[in-house]
Amino acid sequence: MRSDQNILYVRDGDRLIEVPFEEGEKVLSAVRRHLPIKSPCRGDGWCGGCRIDIEQEDGSLKFALACQTKCRPMTIRIFYKPKG
Ligand code: FES
Repeated sequence: MRSDQNILYVRDGDRLIEVPFEEGEKVLSAVRRHLPIKSPCRGDGWCGGCRIDIEQEDGSLKFALACQTKCRPMTIRIFYKPKG
């Protein structure tokens, strides 16, 4: 089920990209519909390629793996190689 509150925000420089997600969906799955994101092990959780940082309320960043993290309303930073 999708609602207006099921939005994940991806910080890309000065831009904030809105990524809708389904209930229970993993961050990797939702983000890859909109942006390139590394996932060499295809979500098995051992390569670390899908590393993200989750912005905390105090401004700090918390490391996580996109393929192991369930979506919720939050702001993240991803590490990817832009195409072109
Ligand atoms: S895709 Fe490999 S650890 Fe997430």
